[in-house]
Amino acid sequence: MKSEAEGGKQAQFPSAFAVEATYLCKIVPDPSGSLTILDHINLAVSAGQTVAIRGASGSGKSTLLGLLAGLDVPTRGTVRLFGQDLTALDEDGRAQLRAGQVGFVFQTFHLLDHLTALENVMLPLEIGPAQRGRTARTRALELLERVGLNGRSAHEARTLSGGEQQRVALARAFVTQPAILFADEPTGSLDSATGAAVIDLMFELNRELGSTLVVVTHDPEVASRCSRRVELRAGRIMAQGSEAAHAGGSARHF
Ligand SMILES: Nc1ncnc2c1ncn2[C@@H]1O[C@H](COP(=O)(O)OP(=O)(O)O)[C@@H](O)[C@H]1O
Ligand SMILES: [Mg+2]
Repeated sequence: MKSEAEGGKQAQFPSAFAVEATYLCKIVPDPSGSLTILDHINLAVSAGQTVAIRGASGSGKSTLLGLLAGLDVPTRGTVRLFGQDLTALDEDGRAQLRAGQVGFVFQTFHLLDHLTALENVMLPLEIGPAQRGRTARTRALELLERVGLNGRSAHEARTLSGGEQQRVALARAFVTQPAILFADEPTGSLDSATGAAVIDLMFELNRELGSTLVVVTHDPEVASRCSRRVELRAGRIMAQGSEAAHAGGSARHF
């Protein structure tokens, strides 16, 4: 895979931040009137940083990730992805930006069950910007080999184990060489040994590509491997742990 030094995508962007949320609010109607899911979130993630988002179930983690990735729109506030204001783009514009820059991994894999592993990994190449030089098929096969699944490329996704499905999902997320990867509890549906192997791969691929990583996780081991930890409580950011705090030992760890 192409490293950042060889000309990764981040170099094209003038903004120091990969993603920057400012006064982000998500409010949805509910039977009692309205529910505030996210309450004035400010979060700036530098290019190349790895960030763990932690918090109790229902604290707003998935909603925040969806907004940062441009899968959803905020009620108020802005999200800038590589300097581009997502709230100023329409759905097509956001889709275009996602296809070029963003990878996403979900807890429940989100593969197309009746497509093969190879077809699943090729999908983002077929709908995204054309890849230079190599065909989508060659590139997808390389990624499947990278996650140890070259022998499974012709198997339908539904016939694969959970761990294999998540490795296909990782290959699909990285095949476009995204500048940022968002992962929402990527090991939440896996046993701990299988989950650990998936996490190792995710960090490895991320490091090779020099991409930014924002991962929602309940796993302290995953959080400790990130350069920064952010905790959400009832839609607000409570506290953050950074590399400096981690090294210094005096700040709270998360
Ligand atoms: N579209 C929606 N409509 C109503 N409530 C929602 C919607 N999306 C999320 N919620 C609620 O917002 C809260 C936060 O959800 P979520 O972001 O999924 O939390 P987490 O990922 O931290 O578990 C939950 O109480 C959830 O039920
Ligand atoms: Mg969630």
